[in-house]
Amino acid sequence: MCGIVGFTGNRNAMTAVIQGLSGLEYRGYDSAGIAWVADARLAVKKTAGRVDDLAKILPVAHPSLAIGHTRWATHGAPDETNAHPHLSPDGKIAIVHNGIVDNYLALKQTLGEAFLSDTDSEVVAHLIAREYRGDLLAAVEKVLPLLDGTYALAVIAADQPDLLIAARKGSPLVVGIADDATLVASDVVPILPYTKEVVYLDDGQVVVCRGKSARFRAAGREIEVATTTIDWSVEAAQKGGYPHFMLKEIFEQPAALRNLVHHRVKIENNAPAFNLEGIELPTDYFRGVGRIVLIAQGTAYHAAMIGRNLIERTALIPSYAEYAADFHYRDPLLDPSVLVIALTQSGETMDTLQGVRKARDAGCKVVAVVNTVGSTIAREADGVFYMHCGPEIGVASTKAFTAMVASLYILSLRMAQMRRTLDPAEIMRRTLDLAQVGPRLEAVLSTANYIRQIAGRYAEAKNFLFLGRGTGWPLAMEGALKLKEVSYIHAEGYDAAEMKHGPIALIDENMPCLFIALLGRRYGKVRSNIQEVRARRGRVIAIASHNDDQIHEVVDDVIYVRAESGVMNSLVCAVPLQLLAYYIAAAKNCDVDKPRGLAKSVTVE
Ligand code: F6R
Repeated sequence: MCGIVGFTGNRNAMTAVIQGLSGLEYRGYDSAGIAWVADARLAVKKTAGRVDDLAKILPVAHPSLAIGHTRWATHGAPDETNAHPHLSPDGKIAIVHNGIVDNYLALKQTLGEAFLSDTDSEVVAHLIAREYRGDLLAAVEKVLPLLDGTYALAVIAADQPDLLIAARKGSPLVVGIADDATLVASDVVPILPYTKEVVYLDDGQVVVCRGKSARFRAAGREIEVATTTIDWSVEAAQKGGYPHFMLKEIFEQPAALRNLVHHRVKIENNAPAFNLEGIELPTDYFRGVGRIVLIAQGTAYHAAMIGRNLIERTALIPSYAEYAADFHYRDPLLDPSVLVIALTQSGETMDTLQGVRKARDAGCKVVAVVNTVGSTIAREADGVFYMHCGPEIGVASTKAFTAMVASLYILSLRMAQMRRTLDPAEIMRRTLDLAQVGPRLEAVLSTANYIRQIAGRYAEAKNFLFLGRGTGWPLAMEGALKLKEVSYIHAEGYDAAEMKHGPIALIDENMPCLFIALLGRRYGKVRSNIQEVRARRGRVIAIASHNDDQIHEVVDDVIYVRAESGVMNSLVCAVPLQLLAYYIAAAKNCDVDKPRGLAKSVTVE
């Protein structure tokens, strides 16, 4: 959580940092600040508001060196004093920090100085100042080993007008090397307007940036690093005419999933050829897998629950979905025959990262399904399956969810091929069905206005239940999560079978219930559950199959979707759930892209 940016070079560093921070607000947005060097002094501006508020209070200035921060509060209230950058007592060193210094209280005690803020971060500026004798790199390298916990740090000094030092341990940090400048940032978005050539810092690495030159170091020595070229465009990280990133990203799903399928599957000699680039595990390995554990948090966990069903049914491997945090702390029984699949959009979620480390320590292979190229989990896993669905900036995850489900389907079909658990003709049939994902999702999106009207009728609700069976259950959980996080309406998602074991007591005329009620093996049971809700005067919205000509008789509102197969059902049902949450939140004037108290990348436990 928190976003940091630093810039040194031949352009206006203030503009670069402010624009960069705007692109990082998904990481936290309860306060923001910037420091720059002017006339051998550090100038600092901070606000308890957002980056836009910060931009309004800045003087006109053209510094060539600046650092900035957008905060998600952990230690200390989200006010101006606790906002970064933090300064040393003499005002000559400024730092911005993403992460948590676990031993900050002990460090503060050893210094015995007064501190202005309640943060864990301020101590870093004090420590560097204590060591600083004109060589900023030496001072930083002396302090880093003292810090327990995690950090992405950027440091500047009043008497070094073009020097920026940054370091990483446990929090992401990317370095962009342009023709006339160097940038450091928590992700690539602030860097894209300047260059597509980046270096993902590893834990323990330090970068020394001076204008356009960047030197990399580890363990006190210079090192060579690999550069990566980013294929995201600047436009991909902008709203492109949509009022919110969330809506834009919902509408990007047909293209994102089309690209994913196109990249990962080709039809050759009348059979599908799957491209698992990034996962260099031999066929024999997949034949020997005894158990699969899918680990993730939040929305990604709901995708994991769907993936569990897909893999079991397709590749016939016992599979389980687990919250990564619980997996990490529960001490699950693991051995090398267990394949762990970690799902994460950001690739930085701390709970998931801990789960990955636990699995690797136990000798399991770990495959990560990730969106953000070069992220920590992508680099620590044994294999990575990139979804390449473009930057997801809206805090509520949408396109990454459907891309994860499609990715797991592709993986499961390939495993089925290798393990010969499905007839080749059936694999072909399912692949061709998946290739229809673009038009199928477009068809649902074409009903967006209709879904907006339905949303208008439920915007005043105080509570909501989402219910479904089979894969309808994780979808129900996802629908509830989307609604609560963007509209602040209390919502729960249940397996519809579970309703009679307790939640049914909640139902009265004020309780809207959304059912995933597609035709199929569980349809009759779901219809009965709908009747039970109606008998208690609950209001019912159903997501139903396009050819269900009876459901409208027993529900208040119905959203029809078209799909013929299991996985497509999940994909086409996800979209109305996302749209419903979005339009209800928009009707309530909620800050859809930046819901209160949240941050997109959850890098704390
Ligand atoms: C909900 C949401 C979160 C994330 C979760 C995991 O809309 O975005 O629940 O899904 O924090 O994030 P990643 O996928 O980055 O690991």
